[in-house]
Amino acid sequence: MKPLNIGLVGYGFMGRTHSNAYASVNHFFDLEYRPVLKAVCGRDAAQAKTFADRWGYESIETDWRALIKRSDIDAIDICTPNNLHKEIAIAAAEAGKMVLCEKPLSMDTAEGELMCEAVEKAGVANTVWYNYRRVPAVSLAKQLIDEGRLGRIFHYRAQFLQDWTISADLPQGGTALWRLDAAAAGSGVTGDLLAHCIDTALWLNGGMQSVTAMTETFVKERTHTLTGKVEKVGIDDACAFMCRFDNGSLGLFESTRYARGHKALYTLEINGEHASIRWDLHDLHRLEYFDHRDDSLVRGWRSVHVTDGDMPYMKHWWVPGLQIGYEHSFIHQVADFLAGIAAGTPVSPTFREALETQKVCDAVLASGKDRAWHEV
Ligand SMILES: NC(=O)c1ccc[n+]([C@@H]2O[C@H](COP(=O)([O-])OP(=O)(O)OC[C@H]3O[C@@H](n4cnc5c(N)ncnc54)[C@H](O)[C@@H]3O)[C@@H](O)[C@H]2O)c1
Repeated sequence: MKPLNIGLVGYGFMGRTHSNAYASVNHFFDLEYRPVLKAVCGRDAAQAKTFADRWGYESIETDWRALIKRSDIDAIDICTPNNLHKEIAIAAAEAGKMVLCEKPLSMDTAEGELMCEAVEKAGVANTVWYNYRRVPAVSLAKQLIDEGRLGRIFHYRAQFLQDWTISADLPQGGTALWRLDAAAAGSGVTGDLLAHCIDTALWLNGGMQSVTAMTETFVKERTHTLTGKVEKVGIDDACAFMCRFDNGSLGLFESTRYARGHKALYTLEINGEHASIRWDLHDLHRLEYFDHRDDSLVRGWRSVHVTDGDMPYMKHWWVPGLQIGYEHSFIHQVADFLAGIAAGTPVSPTFREALETQKVCDAVLASGKDRAWHEV
């Protein structure tokens, strides 16, 4: 197997999911390439060392620029807060490195465009970690839609609900709470959570033409961890939007961090002329399917346990009936990325594809401000 030397930037939540994926992928997938955990980069040397020891990285760096300069690194994996994606991705591409970037691609479309230009000019492999596409049940939904089983699509509905920012005492900013700081995150639930829903929707149901949105910031001021001062909150705490898809279907999307009782509930439902599909992150190995063409005496919603070997990705895992989980979506993305570089084919979503999600997010946020319909 050919080695692919990984340089990981950021060792938080996503740094862990990606490291796990690199370490596991060759045990389950037959691939030409093998990721080598060459270096992890974080600003705190002691913490980076602890992470490197735990996950098996050969070395550490405390400055991502130094990591990018290294000739023994083939691919830079960006797992930092959103405001750093652009600078790191462009520098990595200019140094001829492959770039794997966490979502959302960028703070906004203008930044994302520069990132696309950089990877395309450098001709380096690139992908954005919209991992939910590679949950087998979601991949199966794509297959069923592409086979035409649903017929004409009328409705697309998605929600991503959380409840962790309800307390007005929660500060904003800093290492733990950068998601509440617009300067680090770009936006609130729109870029953090709806971006996932939008990416899946564009993939399953095609492009969006226009959107109209409602956004709210329920807690208007929070103490900033870095300055110690009470500062205005610039992110959207909640966002609901409607859209028209290119295929004529109507979309309804909602996300909030104020849905008491929900920790990370991503659900989607698609209603077609013949059949409907429903998926729920809390039961991620199941795909709900209703087909009107069934014999009426047994017609009803069926719950497909997505574990058989003929279902997406599942032949690589255990035996039918035994399910996999959240972390496997990242392993699948690494497997597809490695297969893509071996074949010389782009790995979806590329930066350019992920830019479409950014355009929708920008239109949604603009509509949240002026309450008008916006073309995407
Ligand atoms: N695909 C998904 O489902 C998913 C889930 C969570 C987060 N994300 C995305 O992943 C990215 C990281 O999120 P997270 O949840 O892992 O955050 P996190 O706060 O857990 O980790 C961020 C890491 O970046 C490091 N960092 C910050 N500034 C740095 C710098 N200048 N140089 C080097 N390292 C630096 C932090 O020390 C930390 O290790 C974000 O873009 C986020 O939107 C994606």
